[in-house]
Amino acid sequence: MKLSSFLPVFLLASSVLACPDHGDVEDLVERDIEISPRSVEPDFDALVARDEEYEYEGTEEGELDARSLDTEGDLVARATSCNNGAGAGVCANKSGKCAGGKFYAGFCPGSSSIQCCVKGAKLPSIPVGGCQKYVYTNGYKIMKVFPTLISSVGCKGSRAYKSDHAVGKALDFMLKKIAPNPNATKMAEYIMRNYGSLKVKYIIWNGKIWSRERKETPKAWSKWRKYTPPKALGTGCNARHCNHIHVSFF
Ligand SMILES: *[C@@H]1O[C@H](CO)[C@@H](O)[C@H](O)[C@H]1NC(C)=O
Ligand SMILES: *[C@@H]1O[C@H](CO)[C@@H](O)[C@H](O)[C@H]1NC(C)=O
Ligand SMILES: [Zn+2]
Repeated sequence: MKLSSFLPVFLLASSVLACPDHGDVEDLVERDIEISPRSVEPDFDALVARDEEYEYEGTEEGELDARSLDTEGDLVARATSCNNGAGAGVCANKSGKCAGGKFYAGFCPGSSSIQCCVKGAKLPSIPVGGCQKYVYTNGYKIMKVFPTLISSVGCKGSRAYKSDHAVGKALDFMLKKIAPNPNATKMAEYIMRNYGSLKVKYIIWNGKIWSRERKETPKAWSKWRKYTPPKALGTGCNARHCNHIHVSFF
């Protein structure tokens, strides 16, 4: 084993031996945080490498309390790795740096100030409060394919009519450019084509609706059914969905 991979295990081992309670996972975690570069700023490769080290060592070091090391390895792995749907990332304090990327809420355990730092295009944040995790994860999956079209995204919200927003199972992708917007039409059709993996129930865009709930099969947006907004919405651009794509999820 490399010296660099031996060192953390040595520190862990000495902290275990110094501690009267060998199974004290919190003590191990605290110790780990002390020596972790994560508290400064996330370094992807180093952290991923560290996770692997811990997992490997945890199952190998038989003389130490293998069970507590296993548990600790799992905790570290779960606490530091995350994926927002658009890409893999590292959990870190959002008040630190996420170089070349952005922090996304809703993908890391514990405090809400620990968020998923994902490299790549900075996608608009999806508010996670009351929003289903698979819904906002699918939202980022979609935006990864169309990273420049959206200005903001809504999820959970109360409505004066029956709506999947009430239960956090709908997204509104607000567009930078209102209809006509051929790129937005492409995005809507992309969401439709991937209805299975994304769990899409129905999509509304620019006065038309496509519904998987009604067992409709994929077809060009121009062939979608006419959409009539609920009375409470009126007949403006927002009601007709000419400024946003609404997606409901099963
Ligand atoms: C994140 O960092 C801020 C500022 O340094 C600090 O106040 C906060 O306690 C940290 N959060 C966690 C969960 O460590
Ligand atoms: C829309 O699509 C065209 C062609 O693919 C592209 O050149 C243009 O930049 C896109 N507009 C936006 C806002 O992304
Ligand atoms: Zn909506």
